[in-house]
Amino acid sequence: MMDKSELQRLAQDKLKDYLFIVVSNREPYIHSWVGEEIRYSRPASGLTVALDPVMQACGGIWIAYGSGDADREVVDKEDKISVPPEAPQYILKRLWLSKEEEEGYYDGFSNQALWPLCHIVHVKPKFDEKDWNTYKEVNQRFADAVCAEVGEKNAFVFIQDYHLTLLARKIKEHCPRVISAQFWHIPWPNYEAFRICPWHEEILDGLLANDLVGFHILHHCNNFLETVDRILECRIEREKYAIVRKGHSTFVRPFPISVDFHEVSGRASGEEVTKEMERLRHQYDLRQEFISIGIDRLDYTKGIPERLKAIDLFLSKNPEYEGRFTFVQVGEPSRVHIDEYKKINEEIGELIDEINWRHFRGRWRPILYIKEHLSPLTLVALQRLANFSIVSSLHDGMNLVAKEFVSSRLDGDGILILSRFTGAAQELTEALLVNPYSVDAITEAIKKAVEMPEDERRRRMSKLRAVVQENNVYSWAGNIISEIAKFEFPEG
Ligand code: G6P
Repeated sequence: MMDKSELQRLAQDKLKDYLFIVVSNREPYIHSWVGEEIRYSRPASGLTVALDPVMQACGGIWIAYGSGDADREVVDKEDKISVPPEAPQYILKRLWLSKEEEEGYYDGFSNQALWPLCHIVHVKPKFDEKDWNTYKEVNQRFADAVCAEVGEKNAFVFIQDYHLTLLARKIKEHCPRVISAQFWHIPWPNYEAFRICPWHEEILDGLLANDLVGFHILHHCNNFLETVDRILECRIEREKYAIVRKGHSTFVRPFPISVDFHEVSGRASGEEVTKEMERLRHQYDLRQEFISIGIDRLDYTKGIPERLKAIDLFLSKNPEYEGRFTFVQVGEPSRVHIDEYKKINEEIGELIDEINWRHFRGRWRPILYIKEHLSPLTLVALQRLANFSIVSSLHDGMNLVAKEFVSSRLDGDGILILSRFTGAAQELTEALLVNPYSVDAITEAIKKAVEMPEDERRRRMSKLRAVVQENNVYSWAGNIISEIAKFEFPEG
């Protein structure tokens, strides 16, 4: 286990004298207009939630797309702002994208080609040459922003995710004195699935400019090695998990990402949370014997319809729970310009209406749908209120909501129903693991959860908490930093 101060010491020791730059598409703080006032919020992105505490510990510069409508108002003339706004620890540098760039690079190639390509959920990827060209241009713009910061310095650049597959190659063309690592936050599919992308070679070539490529689990590392082996001319050194190509080595490693266990536990323990729980009970009439919760971005990979159908089936098979059980679905709107996301939004809304209509009694409805952005305090209060949480992703790199739920349960109670097809399922084996495609399996898990005796609930939760406490986000970052610190800077 590592904590924030240990990570700080490790970063000071290993990264001293070097510039540390993180690059991602999504920014950790978004400034928006609320009436006449500017406020900031934190996006619903596992990536930014995990990396923000790491950056707070390590310091450095984080370059990301400025997506808030008030983002430009608060930056200096270099487009920088110190964050977290209330207690600055590092620099956020915002990069601006035009509507056309956002459409082609973000909505287009990143989220309609690469996202469905890497998640096996049977949504067909859309490969559009125009989107691909915009994606390349935007990757170049991120590279220019990184190179402007690096100049003549030695720098470690830590690149995030599928939006920036060409970035390392483009940076190194101009700044060879950079060591770069890229973390892939989503699954890496097998070769058969990946090769349908018309630009598979360019993408792999871009990623292999990195010195280190990280995935959540070994299975994705193996898929990546196989994909590279079948597509590019190179040497795979299996025992070292390295790819050697044109004299350059790229190491491939699993680093299961996590949450800041202590921060979440702390947030869940204050008096404010108790008040927030009471407010929620009152506002939504959440006083039933069993409360269950699902917290997701509204995304077709999250298996939300499957879990709603399971609630429906559970109540039909066990009508004695009508009036005694409420499922709270928190849905954060996401990628709203993309057709597949519009469809899933409609499907979820219609399903909830139908199910509520079928089972309602007086004021009671089985499903409470909160379709809005909630504060970290409200989210943790809902997690504490719940008897059990359902994470039923059809495919998910890790899923940090599952780890947050566990971290929030300092009362030692609560049950996690978790999809086997999440990275988290490899570590959280004391959860009730389900195949999310099987509505019957989720229904059975719900039945098991409502009937589980307290001692079993506590035994399982205590093991789950030990796992997340031990493998927290500081250990994740510490392992990556220790790994990149082994590389030597090229002469020049
Ligand atoms: C996933 C991706 C992240 C992304 C997040 C939210 O977790 O791996 O890169 O930030 O979804 O999606 P968004 O498109 O809103 O950034």
